[in-house]
Amino acid sequence: MQRRTSQQARAQRDVTQVAGDMHVYPSQESGPSVQWPVWVGDVPRLAAAFQPRAAIRDQADRARREGRDVVLSGAGGVGKSQLAASLARQLRDPEHTTGGGLDVLVWAKATGPDQIITAYAEAAGQLHLPGADPEDGGEAARLFVRWLAATQRRWLVVLDDLAAPGPPEEWWPDSGTGNGWVLATTRREDAQLSGQGRTLIRLGLYTRDETCAYLRRRLTDAGHAHLYDPDWAGELGDELGDLPLALSHAAAYLINTRRAMSDYLTLLRDTSSRLDDLLPPSADTEGYGRPVTASLLLSLDAVDEADTTQLARPLLHLASLMDPHGQPATAWTTPAALDHLRTARPPRRRRLRRHHPAVTEGEVRSALECLRTYALITQDTDTAPIRLHALTARAVRETIQSGMLPAMARTPRRNHEPVAPPRPRGSGTGRLAARQRRVSR
Ligand SMILES: Nc1ncnc2c1ncn2[C@@H]1O[C@H](COP(=O)(O)OP(=O)(O)OP(=O)(O)O)[C@@H](O)[C@H]1O
Ligand SMILES: [Mg+2]
Repeated sequence: MQRRTSQQARAQRDVTQVAGDMHVYPSQESGPSVQWPVWVGDVPRLAAAFQPRAAIRDQADRARREGRDVVLSGAGGVGKSQLAASLARQLRDPEHTTGGGLDVLVWAKATGPDQIITAYAEAAGQLHLPGADPEDGGEAARLFVRWLAATQRRWLVVLDDLAAPGPPEEWWPDSGTGNGWVLATTRREDAQLSGQGRTLIRLGLYTRDETCAYLRRRLTDAGHAHLYDPDWAGELGDELGDLPLALSHAAAYLINTRRAMSDYLTLLRDTSSRLDDLLPPSADTEGYGRPVTASLLLSLDAVDEADTTQLARPLLHLASLMDPHGQPATAWTTPAALDHLRTARPPRRRRLRRHHPAVTEGEVRSALECLRTYALITQDTDTAPIRLHALTARAVRETIQSGMLPAMARTPRRNHEPVAPPRPRGSGTGRLAARQRRVSR
């Protein structure tokens, strides 16, 4: 209640502000009333057994208090978005902060300017900024950036996965008034990201203590504390390169199959030695594809056994060709998707003939659930998009026979969904499958 009152007071102060060469009037008095707080975009849900990464987090907090924006930089799958989500939640939720929360929070996917513009334009719309034309997203986005530079309200803009080369200035809000903060995540490391009041913080792999703490807590929280074996946890960390993403696959596998860590390690080493031939280190340009691929191959075997619908693998193949930022749950049950899944599922035999029975929405839901329990896909809420991590998607694409790709790539298009480029970030689509067939011969 008190919070509402102080927000209303701030709204009065915001009635007229000069931003750049124009006046903005974001108050309730000047037009339709703004519903505070304004939140745009989905802040990802924190992973099970979330590790706070305290040292890095302290650095980010310190930079924020000193009035510096922060860029979290690191390779794929090390946990940049997770850390950004936890920092955003900490600032957003009044119970975690003494400052009383945020008035405006924008979580923008930032792989390209279009995504940033869309998020900013939505914020401009929710703030009813005068002149923000829904038909002209670029102009509305610019108005929002100007509003941020002048407002007294507390704001946070997260630019997740900043990918385009070049200086990010155009869409980088000015936090100079001390009321706002910009936090970005990126796989880029270049000097253009530091400077201009920004602090570049590198996030790496888990420390060995974090690997062990993660495994212990994940297994304990799932009711399988007995599966945690301190003698083997470090070795598992070695084998998976202490990569958070690969460890999340491994932990989900242990929980679902109830296997001992030592057994998992034996299987993993077997898979890893096969990988020397299947995915040579030179093909792994980022260095983290191999642990993800090794843990994925084991998880796929387990999924195949658990999945009574036989749809989990075809669904995963489809997801690996789609936008890694996710697809709405409804995209998987469109007529085009159901039809593709019907023919992609292994045929059944009736009398002496093979046939492909229709796929039901219930079967799709059950297959998605299977993939979720193995941590291969994530969904933040029931209505949030279903996501496959970009590195997992790349590893999945390696397992797809190249002859199957064209038909698969057409299905998302028929759904009017964006299709991820088939070979992003140095992937060798189909090479793994081809070699796998050669090796097994
Ligand atoms: N602090 C953490 N605690 C628990 N699990 C984590 C943590 N950080 C990462 N993970 C696990 O690793 C996965 C990948 O993390 P995240 O998406 O944050 O990586 P990223 O560095 O943003 O990768 P990319 O560059 O591909 O966007 C998460 O889905 C989660 O399973
Ligand atoms: Mg990320």
